[in-house]
Amino acid sequence: MTRLRVGVVFGGRSGEHEVSVASAASIFKHLDRMRYEAVPIRIEKDGRWTLGAKPPEALSAAEVFEPPSPLRGAQGRAQAGRATTAAQVVPSEVEGQPPGETLQLVEPSAAVAATGIDVVFPVLHGPYGEDGTVQGLLELANVPYVGAGVLGSAVGMDKAVMKTLFAAHGLPIVRHEVVLRREWERDPAATTARVSHLLGYPVFVKPANLGSSVGISKAKSDAEFRDAMALALQFDRKIVIEEAVPDAREIECAVLGNDEPEASIPGEIIPSREFYDYEAKYLDEGSRLLIPAPLTGEQTAAVRRLAVGAFRAVEGAGMARVDFLLARTSGELFVNEVNTIPGFTTISMYPKLWDASGLPYPDLLDRLLTLALERHAEKQQLRTSIT
Ligand SMILES: Nc1ncnc2c1ncn2[C@@H]1O[C@H](COP(=O)(O)OP(=O)(O)O)[C@@H](O)[C@H]1O
Ligand SMILES: [Mg+2]
Repeated sequence: MTRLRVGVVFGGRSGEHEVSVASAASIFKHLDRMRYEAVPIRIEKDGRWTLGAKPPEALSAAEVFEPPSPLRGAQGRAQAGRATTAAQVVPSEVEGQPPGETLQLVEPSAAVAATGIDVVFPVLHGPYGEDGTVQGLLELANVPYVGAGVLGSAVGMDKAVMKTLFAAHGLPIVRHEVVLRREWERDPAATTARVSHLLGYPVFVKPANLGSSVGISKAKSDAEFRDAMALALQFDRKIVIEEAVPDAREIECAVLGNDEPEASIPGEIIPSREFYDYEAKYLDEGSRLLIPAPLTGEQTAAVRRLAVGAFRAVEGAGMARVDFLLARTSGELFVNEVNTIPGFTTISMYPKLWDASGLPYPDLLDRLLTLALERHAEKQQLRTSIT
């Protein structure tokens, strides 16, 4: 029996590099070696791709957090850019020609195709991985891959566009405003007045395109709002400002499938800090997961229904974790966001929710790889010309 070659792409250029390495290590550990040959593909923080080196579980903690990187600074960036670009601009060396540059076309996906990989499992969190960029490369290479496609991935990374789609699908979301850098810089006082009038304090101020709570803060006054905007604008030119859900409970639900997605039982996170910020997520151990979430039968049913609705709204595929905010007193439930590549360590919410729903981690990997192959096979049947 030939084994399927599974390329696990991990690491990445985002701030969630370390989380990705941890997720990939769990995947390597649990892939059925009888059926799958796992190929590690690591993206360094400077963007270089390295193939077939050590699997992530073989890396020491020091290597995980301080990857060896001979390329630093401008040269490193240039190299990294070249490695991921479809067309290279190379200096012209043809004698007698005016000095200049010629465009040398390189098959963008050749590197991916040359690996002979049957299916790719991208385990990259945040920008340059969860946002459709790597998915686009894999589409060009015509290689099946786990999880959402280009559109679903891109939408899932943009909190403003995601909310627009949720609203269009009748899903409950918090009142919010979107402010671009230009608008803020032109008249911060007027923007502050407008936002505070429309939403009232407290508000959550978030860069539209990041994860892991980076750049997010809660503002309770005009002064705090200005600081929150200044912080968020360091990370994005588009800022989402949301009404704060009072005393919010954090409910999460795992979704699995392609055109007929299914929802797991819901779980709850009890953050160790005022809100589930970066420190609470990754730096301290205090946050706890409750599985199943202590909800009424009615609430559980609503969460599962809305999770599938949110998955469909963003054109999810394969997997996604859908996060909710539940107002403790009023019981109002809001869809907060969809994560198309959720944390994937054995102690992460997504696999734990499926485990508790009767699908153990190795079986979950099987299902995801099968879904990737099915989606790809369906696409191959499409006509690409009218002749
Ligand atoms: N509107 C809100 N009301 C109350 N708490 C919120 C709200 N938005 C975000 N939070 C808190 O901030 C955390 C991070 O926000 P989130 O939108 O999930 O960003 P990220 O994509 O970085 O996870 C949430 O888990 C929650 O604790
Ligand atoms: Mg979140």
